[in-house]
Amino acid sequence: MHHNTSEIAALQERLASVERSAAEKERQLERYAADLRETFKKERARRDELRRSYMATVRALCNAVEARDAYTGKHAERVAAYGMEIARVLEAPFADDPEVEFGFLLHDVGKVAVPDAILWKPEPLTPEERALMERHPLVGWEILREIDFLGEAKLVVRHHHERWDGGGYPDGLRGDDIPLAARVFAVADVLDALTTVRPYRPPSPLADARAMIDDACGTHFDPDVIAAFRAIPAAPLDEIRVGMD
Ligand SMILES: [Fe+2]
Repeated sequence: MHHNTSEIAALQERLASVERSAAEKERQLERYAADLRETFKKERARRDELRRSYMATVRALCNAVEARDAYTGKHAERVAAYGMEIARVLEAPFADDPEVEFGFLLHDVGKVAVPDAILWKPEPLTPEERALMERHPLVGWEILREIDFLGEAKLVVRHHHERWDGGGYPDGLRGDDIPLAARVFAVADVLDALTTVRPYRPPSPLADARAMIDDACGTHFDPDVIAAFRAIPAAPLDEIRVGMD
């Protein structure tokens, strides 16, 4: 094949022009990528800020409840920490879902509707008083109902006193019908109740509390959740209890 000089020059010119436009395209792509990275960073910062303000809202609500109850103190924060620890070991789908943690923190928000005389009554409650007290999961659910970002948290609030055997309240749900997050929460709640001081009894040592929770496996508690709970060593649980005293 024979090319004359002008054909070669034309080919070289075309090649150079293709290379120039390829380089231009590459620069353009790099600019797009930089823009995307910038947008992504901004979105993430916005999301973090939103999360912080959600968290502040949830804490404010939570403090409003706890401020009334001298005995429980940091109960909600400890229970949330125990609950998330169990969720991690259980590899629950919500193990790093802030929504569910909000539900753990807010579980007793409905107690704002329980009169002081009942909330703080040292003697056993009458059936009428107990009925009023046992409305708190439904009242809490009603309070939070319109808050979209709480999603699954609302289910924890509504169902945190259900029992695996169906003997709980308010809906008497049984087994898997109880949302998993509420089943996890139930164990965390009882663990904290047993290991902290009450006006009528001293706190139980962790080992005793564990034995009592074990005894309620399959009646009060989901056996799978109990299996996960058993797998947690004492150290992280002690750390949560002592760390938030
Ligand atoms: Fe409760």
